[in-house]
Amino acid sequence: MKKKNRWWDRSVGYIIYPSTFQDSNGDGIGDLKGITSRLDYLHWLGVDLLWICPIFASPMDDNGYDVSDYKTINPLFGSNEDFKTLLKEAHARGIRVCVDFVLNHTSDEHPWFQKALRDPKSEERSYYIFKKGKKKDGQLVPPNNWKGFFNTSVWSRVGESEDYYLHIFSVKMPDLNWENPKLRQKIYEIARHYLDLGVDGFRLDALAHLAKEPSFRDSKAPLDENGWAYDPSRFSNRPRLYDYLDEFKKEVLSKYPCLSVGEVGGGISPKGSLRFSDREKGSIDMVFNFDTAWCNGAFGSLDRDDAEIRTDVMALKRNFLRWHKACAKRSDLPFYWCNHDHPRVLSQYGSLQWRKESGKMLSMILLFLYGTPWIYNGDEIGMSNVDYDKPEDFFDDVGNKNHVMQLRRDGYSEERITNFLRRCSRVNARTPMQWDGTPMGGFSDKEYKNRMNRNHLEGVNVQEELKDKDSLLWFFKKAIALRKRKWVNDLVQRGGLRFLYRKNEDVMAFVHERDGRKLILIANMRDFPVDLPSFPKSKKVLLHNYKGTAKQGRKSLRPFEAYLLEA
Ligand code: GLC
Ligand code: CA
Repeated sequence: MKKKNRWWDRSVGYIIYPSTFQDSNGDGIGDLKGITSRLDYLHWLGVDLLWICPIFASPMDDNGYDVSDYKTINPLFGSNEDFKTLLKEAHARGIRVCVDFVLNHTSDEHPWFQKALRDPKSEERSYYIFKKGKKKDGQLVPPNNWKGFFNTSVWSRVGESEDYYLHIFSVKMPDLNWENPKLRQKIYEIARHYLDLGVDGFRLDALAHLAKEPSFRDSKAPLDENGWAYDPSRFSNRPRLYDYLDEFKKEVLSKYPCLSVGEVGGGISPKGSLRFSDREKGSIDMVFNFDTAWCNGAFGSLDRDDAEIRTDVMALKRNFLRWHKACAKRSDLPFYWCNHDHPRVLSQYGSLQWRKESGKMLSMILLFLYGTPWIYNGDEIGMSNVDYDKPEDFFDDVGNKNHVMQLRRDGYSEERITNFLRRCSRVNARTPMQWDGTPMGGFSDKEYKNRMNRNHLEGVNVQEELKDKDSLLWFFKKAIALRKRKWVNDLVQRGGLRFLYRKNEDVMAFVHERDGRKLILIANMRDFPVDLPSFPKSKKVLLHNYKGTAKQGRKSLRPFEAYLLEA
């Protein structure tokens, strides 16, 4: 098979959540024309690779991850013509575009599923996973005890029949039956359609889950109060998955100069990830893991108080190192702090009080650690978690909604639930992009369902930051330009990586070294000053997020102070 030209090796990626990026027609929902109108901004910023979250026809039960027609742009976002224009305009600016391809499930409103329901004998029925329920004490119960990601059984009953269909996400997202070769061909055909249209690649959604445990027997994992067992191993990274992906590669991916980035989530080890993305033997180009996104104890932190949520710098170092060690030589790696499924990184690892300093520090780690960096829209201006005051405000996420219902039944107070959601909900990252300081932030003339974070009125917006050369936004631009310089990129991507002050629990510091040249990053990840025993010698300060050095010299780092040095 022909070896790919790995053009993404020098790319800086940018993730767009289309519903809240830019509205062009005043209906309060972001759209493709809106994205096109902001391409000049993205080009100015210096990013050259987009991942746009799903834009295809969808009843929006899970905000577009429930696709009802893969070949039609969601009318909420515009038309197929608008998409072609977006592609053309992006390419004209040297920006490549990846679409988010949902291939584990469709919407229940997809014509395949509708036909499958109507006609149990249809071919479409075999595209999904239907099983007969079991009889227990004279009652019909689901085929097994598996629990899905959105806090329900993975099974829903089909009307009054004895049949159930499987869905590991919401009831409106039936899983596709990848074991069926005919279904696989249907999926490949959709992929070819977009590649032929000029799309540069795919972010492959929920990729880890395509293959299910074939016996569909009960899990032995502990049962919840409804009798369901949460055991993702039944539908994650199963051996058959790799066969499907090899075929996908052979039939489609290898025939185009495209980038394929899989979302494989929390269950994967660095070694395991190589089965997906090894440059020689893998079937796709890189995989996203979640290991660096939750190193502060916020995940599942319902019973924890705010004071217990603290960046675990040691865990971050361990995770970075672990992934680098196992993968750097054999696979490309993506690196991100935030996406549409996580709370804002500024609220996770930074600080509202030190917005500019901590935002700059985080941008430096993101851009100079290793791998292909992906910036989540709004992080470049320091957008932070929302200030909503009740659980209902987070119900735009079906997962949250189901979870809250459960927590209420478990007797949690409204206050605790709200606080938890403000800390962890993915709605935090789904508020409108803050373009300016007008009431709707320049996003639209109309309020979006997830109200804006009001700090756009206090200067956290693109327009204000553009006026201030010392802003986070200008810093991002400068840092991106630096990262894209060949010698810097070569060091980051191919240099030996070594951590400094490894036992220091507050400071993240590392060196890339190659052909006698060094790039050193030192970052205080705390909101208090930290002293270092020594400070490395260098030729030049390439980036620094403060003016001048601290009184005690460089051996003392101010809150969130960070340096990028050339040595
Ligand atoms: C992925 C998406 C997430 C979605 C889920 C189901 O994890 O990133 O937003 O809810 O898949 O499609
Ligand atoms: Ca619109």
